Amino acid sequence: MKATAVAPSNIAFIKYWGVKDEILRPPKNGSISMNLSELLTTTTVEFNPDFYQDSIVVDDVQEIIEGNRVIKHLDRIRSLAKVSYKAKVISKNNFPASTGLSSSASGFSALTVAASAAAGLKLSEKEFSILARQGSGSACRSIPDGFVEWLDGETSETSYAISLYSKDYWDIIDVVAIVSTNKKEISSTEGHKFATTSPFFNRRLEINKEKMRLVKQYLQEKNFTAFGELIEAEALELHAIYLTSHPSLIYLLPASLRLLHLVKKWRKEGLEIYFTLNTGQDVHIICQKKDVKKVTQKLSEVDDVQSVIINYPSKGAHIIQKHLF
Ligand code: PMV
Repeated sequence: MKATAVAPSNIAFIKYWGVKDEILRPPKNGSISMNLSELLTTTTVEFNPDFYQDSIVVDDVQEIIEGNRVIKHLDRIRSLAKVSYKAKVISKNNFPASTGLSSSASGFSALTVAASAAAGLKLSEKEFSILARQGSGSACRSIPDGFVEWLDGETSETSYAISLYSKDYWDIIDVVAIVSTNKKEISSTEGHKFATTSPFFNRRLEINKEKMRLVKQYLQEKNFTAFGELIEAEALELHAIYLTSHPSLIYLLPASLRLLHLVKKWRKEGLEIYFTLNTGQDVHIICQKKDVKKVTQKLSEVDDVQSVIINYPSKGAHIIQKHLF
């Protein structure tokens, strides 16, 4: 009973922020994202009657079991599959975790798919997505292919992600500019609890449906300019909520801000690029495929940028190996 899955992280164009319920994690609002080809987690799960306790190794580090979210997630899967064996989980990210690159999205979607296969569960994409969401909200969007919408359902059963378009639909690229690999102090899972403390949060919810409609329209039209302007404004709105929450959440570093100014400057000079941001300091630069070289060239001249990761749209989580005994 052992399986290995690989799953991508994803970048949200319309962001999920705030949960209706902290256990089941249906979101306060709908969101839209793209799976990222070069931000991957590979996870192997083995259930074995000979294991006397669960063990979890992430990026070669043994994790503490007490209160661990991975164990809670394994318990969900064990209970669905009626399996009581303990598990060994080995997970590897090919990028720095907990810095705002959504390792929880790739991590919990890979865990969901690997553990379900190892436990002998046969689930639909919708069921995988519902299950992954309970591990970490945005993980539900790393299950389907390509460009994805997370439906803002009222219940657990109606809150899952669907593919809007496959990975080959549109040649847009997310060039991630890493400005620091320092881990954030407040994880997004923690941060969601403070969403409603911002005086602007209700307004954000009021305008979400219209924004969702517009992003879907621009995606459908492949209208890069309208799409870019909207997603950049959305990222700044998310950070306005962070800054005005109680406690305030300040994720951007001086280096991040300097880069946001540069993106605007380069755009004025004719390079059509837009930024988006997550719960962290790194900057996601969205561009068209034809401009990738120019973007990476510009970034290579910026001292603040430690490294870049070029992401194409990607397929969702999938099994890469089932081990038969
Ligand atoms: O899934 P979480 O709890 O890591 O939250 C993700 C929050 C954002 O990345 C800021 C937005 C999003 O929709 O991915």
